[in-house]
Formats: sequence, C-alpha cells, structure tokens
Amino acid sequence: MKILPGNVVLVTGASSGIGREVALAFARRGCRLGLVARRREALEDVGAEVERAGGEALVLPADVSDAAAITTAVERTIDRFGALQVVVPNAGLGRYALAAGQDPLEIEGLIRINFLGTVFTVRAALPHLLGHPPAHIAAVASSAGLIPHRLGSAYCASKAAVIQYLAAVRLEVLDLGVGVSWICPGAVETPFFEGARLDPETDLPLLARLFVRTLDAAEVARATVRAVERNRREVAMPGSVRFFALSRRLTPTLADWINRKLP
Ligand SMILES: NC(=O)c1ccc[n+]([C@@H]2O[C@H](COP(=O)([O-])OP(=O)(O)OC[C@H]3O[C@@H](n4cnc5c(N)ncnc54)[C@H](OP(=O)(O)O)[C@@H]3O)[C@@H](O)[C@H]2O)c1
Repeated sequence: MKILPGNVVLVTGASSGIGREVALAFARRGCRLGLVARRREALEDVGAEVERAGGEALVLPADVSDAAAITTAVERTIDRFGALQVVVPNAGLGRYALAAGQDPLEIEGLIRINFLGTVFTVRAALPHLLGHPPAHIAAVASSAGLIPHRLGSAYCASKAAVIQYLAAVRLEVLDLGVGVSWICPGAVETPFFEGARLDPETDLPLLARLFVRTLDAAEVARATVRAVERNRREVAMPGSVRFFALSRRLTPTLADWINRKLP
C-alpha cells in the first residue's frame, strides 16, 4: 500500500531497538504513531523523537502478552487518530539455553511475548483493518524462525510460530485488501542481546558467524517500511540469511548436518 502523510501506524516494542527505528521511519513519512511497550518513560522519549521527525505520537504503555491490554491500546489509537492503516507487531525478547535445562517459566515467557503477543496484536487490529482497506500488518519475526540454531530451541520455535500464524492469516485477508509481511533479520545491533545469554560473536553457528553481518536497526526499519509499500510476503535479511533459509528449504538434512557439525 502507498504510505501517505497522516496514515496511522501502531508499533509494539517501540521503546527500543528495531521498534524505535520503525516508529521514526514512519514518522519521517508524516505518519501518526501509536507506540506500545511496557516502559512508559522510554516510550515518551521515543514519542518526543517521533514528533521531532515530523510525526505525531500516542504513548500506550502495555504488555503485549495481555490480550485485554493490547486490545485497549489498539482501541485508544483508533479513538485518538480516527484510523489505523499499518500494524507492526515487533515486541519480543530472546532467552537462550540448551533445551535440556531451560527454565519452564522462561520458555513460557518467550511463547507468551513473542508468539501470543503478536497474535493478540493482530487479532485486536484485524477487524478494523478489514473494515478500512488498504491496510497492512508487517511483523518483525527473525531469521531464527526460518533457520534453527543450537541454544535457541524455544526462541526459534516462538518465531517459527509467528511466521506460520501470519502465513495463515495472510491467506484469509490478502484478497480483502490487507497485506501481511514478516521480516526475518539475522543479528541486529540493539539491546536485545543484554540478558539473552547468547553472544552472536561466539554462539551462533560458524557459517552464520562468518557470513551473516550484523545489521543496523535502521536498516531493518527501512526494510519494514518497504515491505508495506511493496506488499512483500517474507523479508529475510541480509542476503546471506536468504541464502541459508533457501538452502534449508531445499536440502534440510544437509543444512542441519552443517549446522550441527560446524557449531
Ligand atoms: N536484535 C536482534 O538481533 C534481532 C534479530 C532478529 C529479530 N529480532 C526481533 O526484533 C524484535 C525487536 O527486538 P530488538 O532487537 O529491537 O530488541 P530490544 O531493543 O530489546 O527491543 C525489544 C522491545 O520489545 C519490547 N517488549 C519486550 N517485552 C514486551 C512485552 N511483554 N510487552 C510489550 N513490549 C515488550 C521492549 O520494550 P519494554 O521493555 O519497554 O516493554 C522493547 O521495546 C524482537 O521481536 C526480536 O525478537 C531481533
């Protein structure tokens, strides 16, 4: 869809990293932003940046794993701006451990925030998007949803679930004027790795360490905006992630063997 000044965009996880850059990218296009995350103060700082960049901001502190809270955030955005054209479910976190020992509450948290947070955001927004096309959902998933890696079983599963969920939703809504995209970046320079217990320099598979360059959050934000404009289905980035994802689809046994043997 064409992004026009005044379009209304809801971004979750807007207080930091990729979400903050996505909000700023839409603000530079003159959009009005609903900004969701748990930390009000950090959101207010991003809200001020959005206004300086030429957008308008509504700060909506909420936990995406709380279906009622995210529904209220969607409703407040529509009440305030009178519209909603683009939704970017992006809130998420990474917690890495060997599958045999990972804490059950941590696994539940990954699924609740990364997967259910996306589901609750999409289901809250969809009735409005379907009633007022054209509209678009562009979720930030991860390369981990396409290419599994050691230490990432629960995280990879949460992101693969996001991708399958959106792929199914896309089949329901595309012909009704609502586009759906999922963005699958490799490692991105953000506070994501603080507390994640994964050092991308040492813990990712050798091929990923050698060939997947670390992305800038602003690059991922630009790709997200482009995905909306061009109605892209899946965006895997950088190119090396696209290559690994394709090889895994074509020869999963070989790809998994390499992944196992070159940890
Ligand atoms: N960085 C990477 O290497 C990378 C790679 C691929 C995909 N991703 C994905 O990109 C997305 C954004 O991550 P990032 O790299 O930008 O990390 P980040 O800087 O840590 O940002 C995460 C954002 O999610 C929000 N958040 C976390 N839990 C939440 C909850 N329960 N409810 C509402 N908001 C919540 C955080 O805000 P509050 O703490 O204020 O709630 C923050 O705004 C995530 O989905 C992540 O899985 C990241």
